[in-house]
Amino acid sequence: MSEISNISKTFFAYLSRPHLYPELARKIYKNIFNRKAAFKGKDDAALWCAKNAISQEKTIAEILGFKNYTKIEELYPEILAEAKSNEKNCPVKMGGAGALDLIFYINEYLKAENAVETGVAYGWSSLAALLSIEKRNGTLYSSDMPYLGKENDQYVGCVVPENLTFNWQLFRFADRESLPKIFKIQDSIDFVHYDSDKSYDGRMWAYPLLFKHLRKGGVLMSDDIGDNAAFMDFCLQNNYESIVVEFDEKYAGFIFKK
Ligand SMILES: C[S@@+](CC[C@H](N)C(=O)[O-])C[C@H]1O[C@@H](n2cnc3c(N)ncnc32)[C@H](O)[C@@H]1O
Repeated sequence: MSEISNISKTFFAYLSRPHLYPELARKIYKNIFNRKAAFKGKDDAALWCAKNAISQEKTIAEILGFKNYTKIEELYPEILAEAKSNEKNCPVKMGGAGALDLIFYINEYLKAENAVETGVAYGWSSLAALLSIEKRNGTLYSSDMPYLGKENDQYVGCVVPENLTFNWQLFRFADRESLPKIFKIQDSIDFVHYDSDKSYDGRMWAYPLLFKHLRKGGVLMSDDIGDNAAFMDFCLQNNYESIVVEFDEKYAGFIFKK
């Protein structure tokens, strides 16, 4: 499909969703005045990640202290098998799974009751967080807008089984609208997973806000931190110690709030 027809498809998808008009206005502004921001500092970030990275397995065993831990696929084989089948049968292809064991075990370590995530798509990160949070009858607050032009709205979160949805509140707006709504309901968060707007500016807007609402000792985790320098800059500018985790040839990072 040509770029022009892609753009018009996305534009009309926005027009039919008035709750996303604020994001449409921001996208138009960004495409006119700030086109190159998405990959700002990518080379420096990739070097920084490569220098500091440790494996997901080592992070869970040595930093979180779950020696000889069991992968969630073995802990919950039926749920994971059904989730995989739901992904396979989903007619729309969306962004895939991240470091699911790490997400689960950080929530276990924190004994998380309240978590926030940005970016749901199939819902793999939601599933990993909910499997832990549900044990304490806590709540996962998720922010997600659909992939515009893909008409995937009805499939968002399709890998999350129905029984876990009792502990889940999904806000179907852009983060800039969702997050203020979420923080009005719950102001003190144990765990945050960031996996939505991957642009430098999007991250640099969201990270400080998310961090502010973390409780002391809580964790902010972000996916794809090698894509641009936002996570690295956020850590270095604020003197935050971070843990960089390599998995599937990409990087996630997390910070404990001291
Ligand atoms: C990589 S996918 C998330 C994958 C998910 N965490 C998982 O583990 O399955 C990114 C999602 O974020 C959504 N998204 C992108 N920009 C957003 C924004 N500004 N606000 C809210 N959601 C956004 C995308 O439409 C998509 O659904």
